[in-house]
Amino acid sequence: MQFQLTEEHLMIQKAARDFAQNECLPGVIERDEHQKFPREQILKLAELGFMGMMVSPDYGGAGMDTISYVLAMEEVSKIDASVSVSMSVNNSLVCWGLEKFGSEEQKQKYLVPLAQGRKNGELYIGAFLLSEPEAGSDATSQRTVAEEKDDHYVLNGIKNWITNGNSASVYLVMAQSDIAKGSKGINVFIVEKDSPGVTVGAKENKLGIRGSDTHSITFTDVKVPKENRIGGDGFGFAFAMKTLAGGRIGIASQALGIASGAYELALKYSKERKAFGKEIMHHQAIQFKLADMATRIECARLLCLKAAWEKDQHLDYTLSSSMAKVFSSETAMWVATEAVQVHGGYGYVKEYHVERLMRDAKITQIYEGTSEVQRIVISRSILK
Ligand code: CAA
Repeated sequence: MQFQLTEEHLMIQKAARDFAQNECLPGVIERDEHQKFPREQILKLAELGFMGMMVSPDYGGAGMDTISYVLAMEEVSKIDASVSVSMSVNNSLVCWGLEKFGSEEQKQKYLVPLAQGRKNGELYIGAFLLSEPEAGSDATSQRTVAEEKDDHYVLNGIKNWITNGNSASVYLVMAQSDIAKGSKGINVFIVEKDSPGVTVGAKENKLGIRGSDTHSITFTDVKVPKENRIGGDGFGFAFAMKTLAGGRIGIASQALGIASGAYELALKYSKERKAFGKEIMHHQAIQFKLADMATRIECARLLCLKAAWEKDQHLDYTLSSSMAKVFSSETAMWVATEAVQVHGGYGYVKEYHVERLMRDAKITQIYEGTSEVQRIVISRSILK
């Protein structure tokens, strides 16, 4: 067993850390306050090759492994989870699914610019449209329909909670083509955002990841060419589940980053702040908090890296990615809350960053499968 990162991993980790410090930290409080989408930061992330990290260079990607992705996600998420959620969705939910299951034409047309994160110098990213107003965790209960007609499908319905909803150029849309077949009647389509009949709803005003653009998307008689269906008829639900298994490694790493960012701030503050005649790090009440934070973060990191390693080894990583996601996201919420507590009153105001990390942590327990959904996946796996 090897617990050491390679030279290349360390270089990627450092590049992500420098990027987060130099490009994401300036203005992070204002972007959160004003819900400003971090377009410039994501364009710079694309220049580093971090929007298509695991995609083969043959399709415009950086050809890195999943371990590198976990390391980079952690570093970016320490500073700005609104940036890293776009990075995670584009890498895991959009590029991975297209590279694995898309046709050669689909890859040339869509994957190449998506993996580069740019087209003609402009931001070019994707979004994953599974959730609906009445189908979140219960994802097979889709009501968006894709009716087959001649050489195309016609889409009608509403998707919501869509990350990159307004900034994406390309949507991967799950829709029901034969309701009688249940999950086997669901298809997945590549839909260009500027197709006639696509309407982007207002930006959601959220508790956390406020820079990230979350929207509902409405489809009204949207014509989608048949060649834009990914995989065979009825493959859409399996596509969503397989893709989400990798997505959960991304969100677990995001949660890990939020936790380690909050911990590092608490550690620093505990060395500076004095109370009862000494730095608060000399009080056992604080020492035990720091010890528990560091221990839980290390557990989360090991789970994330194990899931990534399994994916790189082409093993089944469904169980480990769900374990990583539920543990890391619960760790993020706990650590960020404790980090606010270590800061006392200062933790409750924006300048010290930990209150934002606490707000950002919450969503990691909800999106890409709630903690309860992860426990369904885990228990089914261990009981089968
Ligand atoms: N590969 C192939 N087939 C699969 C599969 C996989 N990985 N996983 C499931 N299936 C098949 C099953 O075998 C089953 O087939 P049969 O009916 O023939 O047996 C079928 O699909 C239905 O599967 P389940 O019976 O397991 O379905 P379920 O209704 O019990 O639901 C669930 C399971 C785990 C709860 C699933 O619905 C789920 O993961 N829900 C959460 C959805 C989710 O994560 N949403 C996040 C939205 S995306 C997002 O947040 C992105 C963002 O913008 C940040």
